[in-house]
Amino acid sequence: MKRRLFFCLFVLPSFSWAQLNFSEHIAPIIYNKCTSCHRAGEIGPMPFTNYNEVAAYGSMISFTTQTRVMPPWQPDKSYSSLLDERGLTQQEIDDIASWVNNGMPQGNPTLEPPLPNFPTGSQLGQPDMTLHMSEQYEHLGNNQDMYRVFVLPVNIPADKTVKAIEFRPGNKKIVHHAILALDTTGQGRVRDQNDPGYGYTSFSGFGFNPTEDTWYGWAPGTTPRYYPTNIGKRLYRNADVLVQMHYAPYPVNEKDSSSVNIFFDNNNQVTRHEIIAPISPLNLTNGPFVIPANTVKSFKGRLRVPADVSLVSVFPHMHLLGQSWKIYAVRPGNDTVNLISIPEWDFNWQGFYHFPRLVKLPANTWIYAEATFDNTTNNPYNPNDPPINVSWGESTRDEMYLTYVSFVPYQAGDEDIVLSQPGELAIQRMKTKMYPVYPNPASGEVQLGYMLAEQGDVKIELLDINGKRVKYLLEGRRYLPGQHQLSFGTEGLSGGLYLIQLQTGSQTIQQKLIVH
Ligand code: HEC
Repeated sequence: MKRRLFFCLFVLPSFSWAQLNFSEHIAPIIYNKCTSCHRAGEIGPMPFTNYNEVAAYGSMISFTTQTRVMPPWQPDKSYSSLLDERGLTQQEIDDIASWVNNGMPQGNPTLEPPLPNFPTGSQLGQPDMTLHMSEQYEHLGNNQDMYRVFVLPVNIPADKTVKAIEFRPGNKKIVHHAILALDTTGQGRVRDQNDPGYGYTSFSGFGFNPTEDTWYGWAPGTTPRYYPTNIGKRLYRNADVLVQMHYAPYPVNEKDSSSVNIFFDNNNQVTRHEIIAPISPLNLTNGPFVIPANTVKSFKGRLRVPADVSLVSVFPHMHLLGQSWKIYAVRPGNDTVNLISIPEWDFNWQGFYHFPRLVKLPANTWIYAEATFDNTTNNPYNPNDPPINVSWGESTRDEMYLTYVSFVPYQAGDEDIVLSQPGELAIQRMKTKMYPVYPNPASGEVQLGYMLAEQGDVKIELLDINGKRVKYLLEGRRYLPGQHQLSFGTEGLSGGLYLIQLQTGSQTIQQKLIVH
């Protein structure tokens, strides 16, 4: 033992003198935290897939990570936790900065980790069906917004249920966001025929009420996901998927061809269909929705939950005067559940934010949505100079106060459903349990695995046959949900029957171990 310590002391100082290099220290950070977006075909404007590409932007990477602009993540992590959270640790930020300051040494390229295995054409895998725009659309370079609806016929032999929807923007320079609707009335097709060119212009929604007017929504930064557990969406065989595309103002003509990937419910899991409800100016308690010139104004709206529901996600939306959001629920009896806080709204980063587990909201819960708008000259994004009175409208110069709330009717056990950890896309229903120890009977090393349904302190003890503690195998430490493993030796134990006991939260689980 003593000799080992001496060895460490001897070796460590030479590490601290060593410079950080790309291959060993920086590539693992960039490839894991940045390259998913910064590679060909994804939304990042430049690729970061090798040393030269990263070094070319070294000082910008250092700046955007120190200011925490990259990787993008708007919600306040201390207010609530959400799935797919992005971020760097302080250590990672410091390492990038010191590497850039030291002239970005490459190090030994053979020590560089391989790029993660990124899927192409989809973040989720192989779609069952891809709906393409049948023509390219040319967005005119007149520095004006365009809202254009494209009609994508579905044409499948029978109605289906869907486990995931993924919007794939074509031309990332101009595609600003997309709202998808499902329509069986044919009215979208009629509007398309009556409007010259591909698709039809519609600044206000779809121009009529489609069968399901918010089927899906996409904005830069939206992470596609499978719907959890037995939740999904309907897709009718004769339906059209209507895609209302917001093309941003741009100085030159640009073409776009976007697509929609659809993943069917091939295992017939879906028994509940996601419902999306808006919180809009109709829900305001301090309306009307007018933001006078040269004011900072907050609005508060609330939506009553009519029956027990399980909340899946929320999608707050506003335009360029937007400053912040705070959304929370107050259950009957005044129990408040924080849902999401976005202290510095950024129009470029929006989407459905999912909760790490389904949130049960009993009937008569109120969901509150508070939004603040800055219509002064202090707001660098204010599209009007000088500021003018602004109210509801589709153009980026108008404003919106809108939160989509996605939920399903509550089912017993929903609160036990843990959705996947950030980064993973599969969804699991987890139960706290211990796996059978191996080997058993044992003499020597024993492997013990267990699954935690939720984060918590875990205590694992070895008890004798009378329930008396022989020793702790693991003592009172906080562990994340998921699978864990440990091993221990039987040295010093006399042969016979023992109990292994795991305690976490209010749960106690035991299993037998024979030592020989
Ligand atoms: C979720 C997708 C995503 C991830 C993850 C991501 N980026 Fe970006 N990045 C973007 C997009 C989109 C832009 C363009 C944004 C814009 O122009 O506002 C961008 C722009 C940038 C820029 C240019 C900034 C500028 O002002 O033009 C740099 C540098 C950058 N990212 C570095 C990083 C680094 C470093 C990481 C990882 C630590 C990272 N990005 C992770 C999507 C991403």
